[in-house]
Amino acid sequence: MRLGLFDSGVGGLTILKKVVDLCPNVSFIYLADTARIPYGVKTSNEIIQFADEISEWFISQNIDAFLVACNTTNAIALDVIKNKLDVPVFDLIRSASSTIQESRVGVLATPTTVKTKAYTNAILEFNPRTFVIEQSCPEFVPMIEMNKINSDEIIDLAIGYLEPLLKQKIESIILGCSHYPLITSLLTEILPTSVKLIDPAQTLALKLKLYMDSKTSNFSKKKYLVDSKFYATSDPKDFSYRAKQWMNVFPEVKLVSLQKKRCVS
Ligand code: DGL
Repeated sequence: MRLGLFDSGVGGLTILKKVVDLCPNVSFIYLADTARIPYGVKTSNEIIQFADEISEWFISQNIDAFLVACNTTNAIALDVIKNKLDVPVFDLIRSASSTIQESRVGVLATPTTVKTKAYTNAILEFNPRTFVIEQSCPEFVPMIEMNKINSDEIIDLAIGYLEPLLKQKIESIILGCSHYPLITSLLTEILPTSVKLIDPAQTLALKLKLYMDSKTSNFSKKKYLVDSKFYATSDPKDFSYRAKQWMNVFPEVKLVSLQKKRCVS
């Protein structure tokens, strides 16, 4: 099976890693829209336009399923993608929300995702009695992309972002941006041990595995790195180094121009 997935940057690699751990036979096409990162502070109209261009590009990539590895796009433009692509599209936010057991839940996400209240709405749909508090974290993505994940600055930011959630005595926290699992150890150090961190990629990868298992006979079994491909909309070399850092693979990353809808190298 060939899976298409995209994120604005390295965040989606946290989802990809969970997917390949669980489904080692999947082949994938990962697109990082690095030229337009961060998505999390863009307007809804911009995100809709990006989603439209990205799904247009994926139409020609011969994929069997699509995974939106960007919460911000999932929150705003999932329907745009679903309407455009003729393959199953996996929903990160609903997958995670359907598994919430705790009655007091915090969500850390980008400002654009928080504005939509997509997590609150999805969680309440599955369990209307849950108390949900969402916290936007505008500085996390730029700091993670600059690899400042151990700086004093990001620790101070994290303490500030977590404070309102802890005041509300939340029992679990959803990492509502695919970049945030990259700072799990930092968040764990700050949080009391009683607070559980939830990575939505876990449930999503499981769903994808179930889907793949149900279709096994339809898809050829290939080792994922053999014919998997990485693309970025700017600085492909830099993205390749990041993939090495986070996924321990050092792939060839091709530059792609979404506006022209063609590969330029
Ligand atoms: N990683 C993406 C998300 O899950 C977008 C982050 C960004 O570009 O701001 O929301």
